[in-house]
Amino acid sequence: MTILGSAACPLRVAIVGSGPSGFYAAEALLQSGLNVTADIIERLPTPYGLVRYGVAPDHPKLKEVVQVFARIASHDACSFIGNTAVGRDVSMRTLGDLYHVVVVAAGASRDKRLGIPGEDLGGVHSATDFVGWYNGHPDCAHLQFDLSQETAVVIGQGNVALDICRILAKSVDELRHTDIASHALEVLASSRVRDIHLVGRRGPAQAKFSPKELRELGHLDHCSAAVDEQDLSLSAACRAELEHPHADAAAKNLQLLREFARAARAKPRHCRVRFLLTPLEIQGDTHVRRLVFGRNELHGAAFEQRARCTDERIAIDAGLVFRSVGYRSEPFDMLPFDAVRGLIPHVGGRVACEEVTAARVYVTGWIKRGPTGIIGTNRADSVASVQALLADVPFISPVSKPGASALREYLHRHGRRSTDWADWERIDSLERERGIATGRSREKLVRVDEMLEAAQRA
Ligand SMILES: Cc1cc2nc3c(=O)[nH]c(=O)nc-3n(C[C@H](O)[C@H](O)[C@H](O)COP(=O)(O)OP(=O)(O)OC[C@H]3O[C@@H](n4cnc5c(N)ncnc54)[C@H](O)[C@@H]3O)c2cc1C
Ligand SMILES: NC(=O)c1ccc[n+]([C@@H]2O[C@H](COP(=O)([O-])OP(=O)(O)OC[C@H]3O[C@@H](n4cnc5c(N)ncnc54)[C@H](OP(=O)(O)O)[C@@H]3O)[C@@H](O)[C@H]2O)c1
Repeated sequence: MTILGSAACPLRVAIVGSGPSGFYAAEALLQSGLNVTADIIERLPTPYGLVRYGVAPDHPKLKEVVQVFARIASHDACSFIGNTAVGRDVSMRTLGDLYHVVVVAAGASRDKRLGIPGEDLGGVHSATDFVGWYNGHPDCAHLQFDLSQETAVVIGQGNVALDICRILAKSVDELRHTDIASHALEVLASSRVRDIHLVGRRGPAQAKFSPKELRELGHLDHCSAAVDEQDLSLSAACRAELEHPHADAAAKNLQLLREFARAARAKPRHCRVRFLLTPLEIQGDTHVRRLVFGRNELHGAAFEQRARCTDERIAIDAGLVFRSVGYRSEPFDMLPFDAVRGLIPHVGGRVACEEVTAARVYVTGWIKRGPTGIIGTNRADSVASVQALLADVPFISPVSKPGASALREYLHRHGRRSTDWADWERIDSLERERGIATGRSREKLVRVDEMLEAAQRA
């Protein structure tokens, strides 16, 4: 009898998405001991998802994880099929003919909205767009950001909001040697932004920052960080949260914020961290002029505290707004989708979708658990989904499936130019060469057509 995953019948797995969760799923499969192929399908010509297009350019150490991913990609049983969007270039149904299993690791590429009046005025942007723009994402390279305003407001108090503040706060000389997109460097060079308000709807004990990132905000060369002392007074419930043995990060954040409150405003740029403010309206004719916030009080037991708006209103005059209130996933090619939580519903990583595709479908990463967690969080998540997958292998019909070669042939037949790992290596080396020429770690190609051209270099 043929056994799936044996020498006679390799287990063919397609992984959709080449961010951390996709690579970690491939790694777990390749270490399973089965005869398995793991083909990573990516809609862009380039790999690495948010490690390339999310992680801040001034944090190069955090991007070194790509060396781990490159080692996974170099495995004989792992293929990279780039410039191929599932749902556009190939359907889940077709993948079901070519593979036994599909693991969806497509991340969360959209932004959450505030749902308040004025959100579509000029000068109001999503973090997703701004981050994509300064990181050279092909979907965002054409966007325009007018940094001629002196005051910017960043709404949300997570690490992405801190990234945005830092990029606005740093001088262009501090960014020049990074892999920030050249078009962004050019615009940031003439930025007039001086005052940045980093606004949260809850209090200092609930801010989602990591202390390491918050500390950095207090040590910038050209920007001082400040907090009003009165914003740091704590209720009994907040004190209970901070005294909890697992509240190490929140306690460190509070200590740092107290240091900010005592620090002098001595630098040309200034970032003020503000709490307990819910944005109610963004005012202006065609362009944002002012934001109106409601002053909040926290209600509820420790760890369940929610912001409730009082009648007090606070206005901040500003010409630039970034909402950084989280990412969200999009519905994925005919698979079930939980629009409220913004993810693919699953049971232990298994997705029920027999009517959509003949393949077994699993999910991992941000599209599985929502848009939270650092790069490393995705490793355990992918290992768990792959364990569920491996437990199901005995129940998958051991018919032979063709995998990557047939998928490439299918794409070619339908006029689609896919990229492989060697193509990415040529793009990568051209970007590095261009970087050396301009004294930078890399100069990213930001258009798909120029990436495909680079992929063809001898
Ligand atoms: C701005 C920002 C900065 C961050 N900085 C850090 C940091 O400094 N350190 C840290 O540890 N974590 C950081 N994170 C978190 C980290 O990036 C995420 O935990 C991680 O990237 C999530 O991995 P993922 O694989 O689920 O999604 P992603 O990284 O988003 O990867 C998903 C991939 O799927 C592809 N894809 C989507 N749809 C399709 C489709 N239909 N067909 C084919 N391919 C598709 C996408 O193009 C993308 O390449 C940051 C996150 C953001 C948003
Ligand atoms: N250097 C790093 O390690 C790094 C860098 C970037 C990102 N990341 C990770 O990537 C993940 C995503 O980060 P993120 O910053 O996008 O998300 P996040 O950590 O979930 O923070 C989102 C912020 O938005 C606020 N918010 C949500 N809805 C809101 C609304 N309607 N009005 C006002 N405020 C609202 C939240 O407040 P409430 O708490 O009140 O909901 C919170 O302060 C996180 O896990 C983060 O740690 C890591």
